Amino acid sequence: MNPFATELNERLKAKAPGIYNMLSRKGKESYFPKTGILSQSMQAKGSAINATIGMAFEDDFSPVHFRSLKRLINLDPKKIFPYAGCSGLPELRKRWKVMQLQKNPILQGKPTSLPVVTCALSHGLSIASMLFLNPGDTVIIPDLYWGNYNMLIKDHCDANFDTYPLYKGQKMDLESLRDRLSGTSIGKKIVAMNFPNNPTGYTPTEIEMREITDILKTSAEHGNHIIVLCDDAYFGLVYEDGVEKQSLFAHIADIHENVLAVKIDGATKEDYVWGFRVGFITYAAKGLDDDVYSILENKTAGGIRSSISSSPHISQSLLLEAYRDPDYQAEKQSKYDLLRSRYETVKAVIAANGKRYKEFFTPLPYNSGYFMCVSLADGLDGDAIRKTLIEKYSTGVIYIHGVIRLAYSAVAKDKIETLYENLYAACKEQ
Ligand SMILES: Cc1ncc(COP(=O)(O)O)c(C=O)c1O
Repeated sequence: MNPFATELNERLKAKAPGIYNMLSRKGKESYFPKTGILSQSMQAKGSAINATIGMAFEDDFSPVHFRSLKRLINLDPKKIFPYAGCSGLPELRKRWKVMQLQKNPILQGKPTSLPVVTCALSHGLSIASMLFLNPGDTVIIPDLYWGNYNMLIKDHCDANFDTYPLYKGQKMDLESLRDRLSGTSIGKKIVAMNFPNNPTGYTPTEIEMREITDILKTSAEHGNHIIVLCDDAYFGLVYEDGVEKQSLFAHIADIHENVLAVKIDGATKEDYVWGFRVGFITYAAKGLDDDVYSILENKTAGGIRSSISSSPHISQSLLLEAYRDPDYQAEKQSKYDLLRSRYETVKAVIAANGKRYKEFFTPLPYNSGYFMCVSLADGLDGDAIRKTLIEKYSTGVIYIHGVIRLAYSAVAKDKIETLYENLYAACKEQ
């Protein structure tokens, strides 16, 4: 074990032994090097002659760059071309933390770490998995989840998924979740939650969110150590009253010393910058102080340094400018309104035609996000229907986990009815 990792582990063991025990073997080994190139370079910052870092500077210390690139971007070259640092731009990290608080008022007064910048949420998920999952560990997860979890979490860490049904009728099957967390084998449990859910576009109601919080708390009180991965990719896109608007992370941030909440969020979907590759990992558990959070941030930075080294500077700078822009909130609202209007259209189309559609497909509960799913009537071949839709109706949908996922976020309002009618026609052809 590297001596820096040992030092971090000793501090963590002394202050928060439960959190130390939650770390995987890789998580225990993880550290951000104190004497590496980056740290030595940081120490030399401001020196008259600085021959430390692997970048090139002009004689006036401005970063070397091509005008052909710079002229495309209306930002100071210093905010574009140099490395952004492994944990991300400090100003962006602080800003995102303030924004998390604004979006989740119940976080007020609950200490959390400073968010660490990742190369978007996929990278955040893979870092979090590396830090907390040992080969053979089991992740408790609903049966309807984003397909890339298979590679990012399961394959990446040689872990297993213990799936429970997301739904029971029109509600969440929280009894099954409770079963998974209250079994007789007490120990480390890893739970993955994603709301609004991909693929189903479901977010728990306020009542369900309280129940989930209670399930996690009760399980911790029985002696389990629970790591909750909160994938908030589609945060903010809730369209119904009575559906929870704040993150699960905010609800569980201080429920118990044995519940570590790990928030994986970012600009990708929330701010419609899929290609920017900016996400964040943030930690919270009851009773943790800044020193423990800094250890977790340090181990996270180690995971970043050892995978992609650092996230893109240009997109972090662009986002920071956007977040300071007085028009940001209004623009965000207008894009929310756009997606919401498509959601309303989907609901109207289903309300008008649902009885007829029922012969072939039935919507699963949905209330938020980018998507909704339909389950197919017995005997229908989902993949064949998907292919017919492309070949005969020039219509693309996803067939996954035995259901058809429709990304209404990507379909103009006046095409939504046709989308469902095409699906109906393709089913009828089978
Ligand atoms: C639930 C969920 N989590 C994470 C991601 C990954 O997002 P990113 O593009 O930021 O890596 C996606 C992308 O589709 C997603 O649907």
